[in-house]
Amino acid sequence: MTHPPPLGMLAEVTHRCPLACPYCSNPVQLDRRSDELDTAAWLGVFEQAAALGVLQLHLSGGEPAARPDIVELTRGAAAAGLYTNLITSGIGLSAARLEALAGAGLDHVQLSWQDTDSANADEIAGFAGAYARKQETARAVIALGLPLTINVVVHRLNIGRVAEMAAAAHRAGARRIEIAHAQYYGWGLVNRAALLPTLDQVEAAHAAVARVRQELQPAILVDYVAPDHFSRWPKPCMNGWGRQSLNVTPRGKVLPCHAAETIPGLVFWNVREHPLREIWEASPAFTAFRGEAWMKEPCRSCPRKEIDFGGCRCQAFAWTGDAADADPACQHSPHHAALRAAVAAPRTDGLRYRRFSGAPAGPGG
Ligand code: FES
Repeated sequence: MTHPPPLGMLAEVTHRCPLACPYCSNPVQLDRRSDELDTAAWLGVFEQAAALGVLQLHLSGGEPAARPDIVELTRGAAAAGLYTNLITSGIGLSAARLEALAGAGLDHVQLSWQDTDSANADEIAGFAGAYARKQETARAVIALGLPLTINVVVHRLNIGRVAEMAAAAHRAGARRIEIAHAQYYGWGLVNRAALLPTLDQVEAAHAAVARVRQELQPAILVDYVAPDHFSRWPKPCMNGWGRQSLNVTPRGKVLPCHAAETIPGLVFWNVREHPLREIWEASPAFTAFRGEAWMKEPCRSCPRKEIDFGGCRCQAFAWTGDAADADPACQHSPHHAALRAAVAAPRTDGLRYRRFSGAPAGPGG
């Protein structure tokens, strides 16, 4: 049986990255450079994605500019008819390289900021001088006339400055800022006790976002992803499993979401062995939680299942040991009280930075 095509594809072209952010969405076990798909393999995936119906390609990582062939990859994706969005740390992107990317057909740049306090930004990124380099990249993007989105992950260590971040993004010339609370899978889960904000901080951030939206929109669009740990309802994670998007890892595994590998027992097919269409329509991982047949109570009879699609499968597994359970962010989950207890627990100091296993611990690893 065929399934409606995905709208977007996230291509994690490498896990290599100069930054070491302790909430990185990459898995704790990172793919090595020697395992990465080569240029021809990626270009073939992009052509298959376009044929499948994908409209938007998000070139991501790690840091996609760590790939020497990123201009070639962008040119191939654009030639395939995909709208190309580069999701970047801004490190390793000279003005000349950005110009080459624009010439290759790049449509949009999404630049991460860690903070507007430069010392804290560098500390969170685990990279001295990151803040200044990111400002240079933003200027170069704007000078080329490319649309710019600033992406900020917020947590206990920067949440007090969401208004300043939105104002700074506006001054930098961005058309959009995405302020998203950290997600607690992978590296984020490792560092949850240090990163999770307090309820007071979250309420202040909600108010600050409402205020800056009044002040700055529509000159800059302020998107805000609220933290589900403080909610009574789960987020519609991925807009439903296997429903709108797919994620290709550096080594070619195709995942329904970036954290899907945290669910044991799922079998992920690889673009080295299967056509992308077959993976999307029929692979075991994509069909595991697609639709509603997998749902148990309380999701099965819940009228909100068409709004939140049962929430997040990865979060359900992390808290209950069964990915088919209700997301504990839902107030009807028997595990909701445990999630609330974690929110009420004392916070800790000290971060475990993203790094390849075997590398030294600490910032910049
Ligand atoms: Fe995997 Fe939510 S992150 S379903």
